[in-house]
Amino acid sequence: MYEDGEEPKNHVRRISVVGMGRVGTAIANAIARRGTATHLALIDVQPNRAQSEALDLQDTIPFLNPLQLTHSTEISASKGSHIIIITAGARQRPGESRLDLLGRNVSILSSIIPPAVKLSPNAVFLVVSNPCDVLTYVAARLAGEKAAHRVIGSGTNLDSARLVSALSRRADIAAREVNAVIIGEHGDSSVAAWSIATISGLPLRAISTDLETEIIREQLLREVRGAASEIIKYKGYTATGVGESCADLAACILSGSIHVRPVTTRIPGGTFPVITESIYFSMPVRLGGSGDMGILVPKLDERELALLSKSASVLLAAQQDADV
Ligand code: 2OP
Repeated sequence: MYEDGEEPKNHVRRISVVGMGRVGTAIANAIARRGTATHLALIDVQPNRAQSEALDLQDTIPFLNPLQLTHSTEISASKGSHIIIITAGARQRPGESRLDLLGRNVSILSSIIPPAVKLSPNAVFLVVSNPCDVLTYVAARLAGEKAAHRVIGSGTNLDSARLVSALSRRADIAAREVNAVIIGEHGDSSVAAWSIATISGLPLRAISTDLETEIIREQLLREVRGAASEIIKYKGYTATGVGESCADLAACILSGSIHVRPVTTRIPGGTFPVITESIYFSMPVRLGGSGDMGILVPKLDERELALLSKSASVLLAAQQDADV
């Protein structure tokens, strides 16, 4: 399922991770554990950071899967990648929102994306750095017209996993039975698409009328939106969850078939009657070898549409800030 992406040849699956801080390291480790890549390039401008993580990760190979590891301070090491995962940039400090990081991280992307596109003209770019929706928009512009459609963001894939976990605990039903998505911003204006959530294929009310009440739904959404800050409050950063979320997305992209995941992509104006501008935010997407291979537009109720429109306005304003 590779429209214009270069299909991995002889099962070579080449992934690069740019930014080997805690998130990049968690992503690399999750990819290694899953056996998603045959070649993994770890790149970081800080001398020795990528090297130290590569040496540490190398020790897992005899226990896990064959993996060709390389490390570098130069983006040139990403040449020929099928997926380039961008985690470089500042991370939230306690009390900081993801949008507060915009200025610092735009300039970092400007130094990474153009050369990376030249070196891997068919790669899917997965932007993880925060604020990831706006930085996905910036990365798509930096990538240029030909490659822009292969730029996606990790978006609300992790938020949706957090909602699935919260619902699973509340309903006391295994998480794998829960199908629920968060859409819009990967951040404080995210929207729970309750009207399309199911457990074991049944509407939530069939499981428990509690799950239909405003008070419970608000509580669950607060839990999802506050998850990162709660973790950051205690350990100063998040990494494990976002690492597994991005490894899941990379596995979907390289699987050879289509999976549906909520990721940040360009949502054309008019996709929703209330949103007239093209904005980058998370929607369920047919995810395959070329990244976004089609947006799946859920039927939302009036309240969800109003909340999504609010989320889109927050992101549109941030996108316009990023343009200056
Ligand atoms: C997270 O949600 C900080 O965006 C990161 O864990």
